Amino acid sequence: MTLVHRVLHPKPILSLDEYLARAGGKGIETARQMTPEAVIERVLASGLRGRGGAGFPTGRKWQTVAQNHSAAAPATVVVNGAEGEPGTFKDRTILRRNPFLVIEGALIAAGAVGADMVIFAMKRSFEGELARMRAAIEEAEAAGWSQDVELIVFEGPDEYLYGEESALLETIDGRWPFPRIVPTFRRGLRSVATGEAPAGPALVNNMETMANVARIVARGPDWFRTIGTAESPGTAVCTITGYTRHHGVGEVHMGTPLREVIELIGGGPRPGRQIKAVLSGVANGIVTAADLDAPVSYEGLSAVGSGIGSAGFIVLDDSVDMAAVAAGVSRFLAVESCGQCSPCKLDGMTIATHLTKVSVSAGRTHDYDVARHRLGTVTERSRCFLATQQQMVVGSILNHFPEEFERHVTGEVPGVEPELIAELIDIRNGKALVDERHASKQPDWSYNNRDSGTVPVELYTSLVPPWRP
Ligand SMILES: Cc1cc2nc3c(=O)[nH]c(=O)nc-3n(C[C@H](O)[C@H](O)[C@H](O)COP(=O)(O)O)c2cc1C
Ligand code: SF4
Repeated sequence: MTLVHRVLHPKPILSLDEYLARAGGKGIETARQMTPEAVIERVLASGLRGRGGAGFPTGRKWQTVAQNHSAAAPATVVVNGAEGEPGTFKDRTILRRNPFLVIEGALIAAGAVGADMVIFAMKRSFEGELARMRAAIEEAEAAGWSQDVELIVFEGPDEYLYGEESALLETIDGRWPFPRIVPTFRRGLRSVATGEAPAGPALVNNMETMANVARIVARGPDWFRTIGTAESPGTAVCTITGYTRHHGVGEVHMGTPLREVIELIGGGPRPGRQIKAVLSGVANGIVTAADLDAPVSYEGLSAVGSGIGSAGFIVLDDSVDMAAVAAGVSRFLAVESCGQCSPCKLDGMTIATHLTKVSVSAGRTHDYDVARHRLGTVTERSRCFLATQQQMVVGSILNHFPEEFERHVTGEVPGVEPELIAELIDIRNGKALVDERHASKQPDWSYNNRDSGTVPVELYTSLVPPWRP
């Protein structure tokens, strides 16, 4: 199989005129001749599922938001472009190539769910993408695309939790990225912080999800289903990083075997090396070499105890120490935890500390046992999925590679520093730039020499965030 170009254009589209000349804009044209219900019906029939991680059926989400909005509390569409999953760079790549496709999809969504505002939520560090999006919005507005829908670009913080959908809304509302209990379709934006209006529901969709919408509406659900599988129709825009010949982003048919995706986008393993395992971000169980032929689809990867997540695959070869990988994953998640749920932060940090001791060969069986025990309690009373990620991903590494930890506690192998697991800053000339600053990020989210010992939720709640409107 080869790469496809449904949402990821081979070359950047530089202006709205160029986009229109390449048959862009047909989705919005079609949607405006249809009722909102008919548009939602089309998205439902396509079987499109969210590309942000959870794979929730997009049409069903739209239906719920449409049912929950009212004239007094209009809906808001929020396009999630936070892209904080380690090993993922697809949303920024889609945006660099064609921001108009994302804007078109978001405007169709706004019409379908009764929204008067679309917010493109990105990170303030995504400077190039922010500029590209703003320029594209200006062109779309000048061409009359937006009608009475306000288009806003929001610049959020770098924290991993900012991408979690309820934390995203908290942040846009002028608070810190701490996940809520109330679902986003019940309480959206414009609530306490701005006091402008009662909070209407918010539709939060990932940027790649939105990029699929225009052609589904223009060409119909049957066209969309000509690629992919029955449960995972369409394509997946995958990122390949880690121990491969090179790194990159490419679009494949859903259902393409993972091994082939690694070959196509990453050129396969480095010379003389073999793939040992693959991390699907830090949100799903690890895929071992024995399962490399699993199809990249929602059902294909969950059948091997993993998941497609945001299709960001970090490839690990036989030179990699799995104790170092477990320590790195655990540290990333524990540092990024906000501390609203004590077990997530405290057990998370305990797991990371003990696994680091094992990885650097300064630990004993006791350290391994403590980490294992705390994996059983880390999810207690957890408000968001991050604690479960710690349990699932780190647990799967421990389960699949017990001998690699054993070798460290018996002193059979020298110590290794934890593998750096962090967000991607860029992929340039086939090489990924991982955010190395994360190695010095403290559990209180500062970059101070010492951690304050206070969890982020206690440290920041009384402080006004710099992004408050
Ligand atoms: C800790 C955490 C971080 C997340 N980060 C992102 C992110 O950076 N981008 C994203 O689109 N979704 C992220 N998600 C998933 C969102 O909460 C949400 O499911 C998604 O934006 C919904 O869009 P979709 O239905 O189109 O996938 C994250 C979830 C969790 C639990
Ligand atoms: S589960 Fe963890 S990250 Fe999520 S809200 Fe609770 S403490 Fe914060």
